[in-house]
Amino acid sequence: MPRIPVLLYSCLSALQCLAVNGQASSEPLYDYIVAGAGAAGIVVAQRFAETGASVLLLERGGPSTFATGGTSTVAWNDTVTIYDIPAYGHQLNFIPEANGVWCSDTPGLAGCILGGGSVVNGLQWVKPATWDFEDFPEGWKWDDVAPAAARLYERNPGTSLPSADGKYYDQAAYQILTKQLAPYGWMEVDSLVEPYAKDKTWSSFWPSADLPPLAETKKNFKLQLDTKVIRAVRENATITGVEVEDASGSRHIIRLAQGGKVILSAGAMSTPRLLFNSGIGPAKQIRIVQQSETTNVTLPDESQWINLPVGKNILDHPLFRLVWNVTDPDLSKLTSLSTAQFLNPTAEQIEQFAKGSGPLVQGSIRLNLWQKITNQDGSVRYIESMNFVRANGTLLMGATLTHGADSRGELGIHPNGTTYFVKQPLLQTAGDREAVETFFRQMLDYVRGPESVLEYSRGGRDATVEDLWAGGWDSARHFVGSVRLGDDDGREVGGAAVVDADTRVYGTENLFVVDASVIPSLPTGNSMAITMVVAERAAERILAMGKAKR
Ligand SMILES: Cc1cc2nc3c(=O)[nH]c(=O)nc-3n(C[C@H](O)[C@H](O)[C@H](O)COP(=O)(O)OP(=O)(O)OC[C@H]3O[C@@H](n4cnc5c(N)ncnc54)[C@H](O)[C@@H]3O)c2cc1C
Ligand SMILES: *[C@@H]1O[C@H](CO)[C@@H](O)[C@H](O)[C@H]1NC(C)=O
Ligand SMILES: *[C@@H]1O[C@H](CO)[C@@H](O)[C@H](O)[C@H]1NC(C)=O
Ligand SMILES: *[C@@H]1O[C@H](CO)[C@@H](O)[C@H](O)[C@H]1NC(C)=O
Ligand SMILES: *[C@@H]1O[C@H](CO)[C@@H](O)[C@H](O)[C@H]1NC(C)=O
Ligand SMILES: *[C@@H]1O[C@H](CO)[C@@H](O)[C@H](O)[C@H]1NC(C)=O
Ligand SMILES: *[C@@H]1O[C@H](CO)[C@@H](O)[C@H](O)[C@H]1NC(C)=O
Repeated sequence: MPRIPVLLYSCLSALQCLAVNGQASSEPLYDYIVAGAGAAGIVVAQRFAETGASVLLLERGGPSTFATGGTSTVAWNDTVTIYDIPAYGHQLNFIPEANGVWCSDTPGLAGCILGGGSVVNGLQWVKPATWDFEDFPEGWKWDDVAPAAARLYERNPGTSLPSADGKYYDQAAYQILTKQLAPYGWMEVDSLVEPYAKDKTWSSFWPSADLPPLAETKKNFKLQLDTKVIRAVRENATITGVEVEDASGSRHIIRLAQGGKVILSAGAMSTPRLLFNSGIGPAKQIRIVQQSETTNVTLPDESQWINLPVGKNILDHPLFRLVWNVTDPDLSKLTSLSTAQFLNPTAEQIEQFAKGSGPLVQGSIRLNLWQKITNQDGSVRYIESMNFVRANGTLLMGATLTHGADSRGELGIHPNGTTYFVKQPLLQTAGDREAVETFFRQMLDYVRGPESVLEYSRGGRDATVEDLWAGGWDSARHFVGSVRLGDDDGREVGGAAVVDADTRVYGTENLFVVDASVIPSLPTGNSMAITMVVAERAAERILAMGKAKR
């Protein structure tokens, strides 16, 4: 397969080739500059390029899949990289070649490579539910975004049967858990068909969803890798371009065409850095950038700083890794592939993979569970759990607290440019803990019941909710909300939003944010598909704005 050609930009019209002072310039000027080629950035850049506008997509990382020029190939096939194998999504920490893939300057895991999170994640393609948009402003409720979602699903349908031979592989987790839950009224749904059936349901598979094809064949589109955006170049409300740093560390400015727009799509933990570096955010954070002795960021004059609550609403799903031992004598005999076996596949599995089949074409998760939990005060929260087997005779349940959770953290910046949690986003409220505890208690009731096939690995049948809490929790890496979308202008007292309903940063004419950052509350499922739906909707609104102006 060929490398994505890095096309040389050619001026679309003589006008765009003129520098501001009227002199012809060899430097191209763009209608749209998109900073970050992750799940969202690729979608918006593609939609802009489809209109014929000149588009530059900047990505700080290098190529990923073989088709994009990636070179981290596996030992058994020199046209297959570690990022081409769906089953490796949750195994990257065991693959030395993947070491450099994680962003080095964020407080939680994020992929800094072409494709962003979508090439390092578990490939769980969870379509958002209607209520996932209830905290968005007018113009963004489900009925408003449904056509955008339909466009995305047309290109990225997902599948509940990833293997081309029509078979499911490595099914122990599925068999164990469905036997445990069926007596308690849980039911199977195909979540791609019924994304709203999220109470006491399980979905058997959530496999890979490819990103949309990059617009690499279009003359008006350019993808530039190994290029880190430092800041938007801003004069009061107007953005004139971006400052970038190339792989050698040298910096230069890339300019917008007249009437052009800059879109920040660097992800929920990096887009805030780009805003702070552009003099946008709480003055406290901008001052850290100003006083830094290492990052050398040129800020606008203090009189032009825009005081917005960037970083103040960061959210994430807390993840509980619960290990259950299988007590049912038949089920405990089931075996599952180990990490070592995935990484050193058999000749048969290699042959299957070449035909689009076998265990390597499935993502890691074998079964997702969904449940709606109502607290004493009537508030509703959802639980999603992702399940697989990593040691024979045990089930690993990754339970997360999702939509409805009301804990929020705060993201700030260190003098060295690393973003960090001023306040952790996970499990800060009593309501969130209550919902988790309800789920724990119910699981313990199930496994003490007559139909039990499991017991908790620490404490067995006598395990208590305290034993489950004792396992601690971690980030599910589903960060959202750090650059909140809303009608409540954050420059005003009581306002929490950083971008308006067109995803435009308040107080600017032509700076936009389109990525997971803008999602105002936690989605019910994993965050990639909803981020891409948001990107489709944002592209539609930004393009409509441009038309209205002319
Ligand atoms: C380990 C892991 C597992 C996950 N599992 C799942 C899952 O199974 N299912 C699911 O739905 N979601 C999952 N997620 C979450 C999902 O991947 C993210 O929600 C999604 O990728 C967010 O998209 P984004 O466009 O906002 O950001 P990203 O996809 O992170 O893209 C941001 C891009 O911007 C680039 N960038 C950053 N800074 C700069 C800069 N200064 N200049 C230029 N480029 C820059 C990055 O390199 C990256 O390519 C997982 C995430 C992680 C980290
Ligand atoms: C920016 O704002 C300052 C003060 O508000 C003003 O003096 C200056 O002319 C403005 N610059 C531009 C390019 O609009
Ligand atoms: C910042 O600028 C100073 C002085 O120009 C230079 O010595 C230093 O190397 C620069 N640092 C970085 C990280 O670019
Ligand atoms: C489970 O047992 C099988 C058969 O002994 C073995 O091949 C496999 O590696 C084991 N799986 C794990 C996850 O340990
Ligand atoms: C290598 O992978 C490619 C793509 O999956 C496949 O077409 C080819 O047959 C594979 N080669 C071998 C030797 O497995
Ligand atoms: C950046 O600074 C923070 C706080 O001092 C520190 O914890 C972190 O390790 C630094 N990161 C890098 C990459 O130097
Ligand atoms: C669960 O299984 C693990 C591994 O076999 C074992 O170490 C642990 O003691 C078991 N727990 C219980 C409660 O039996």
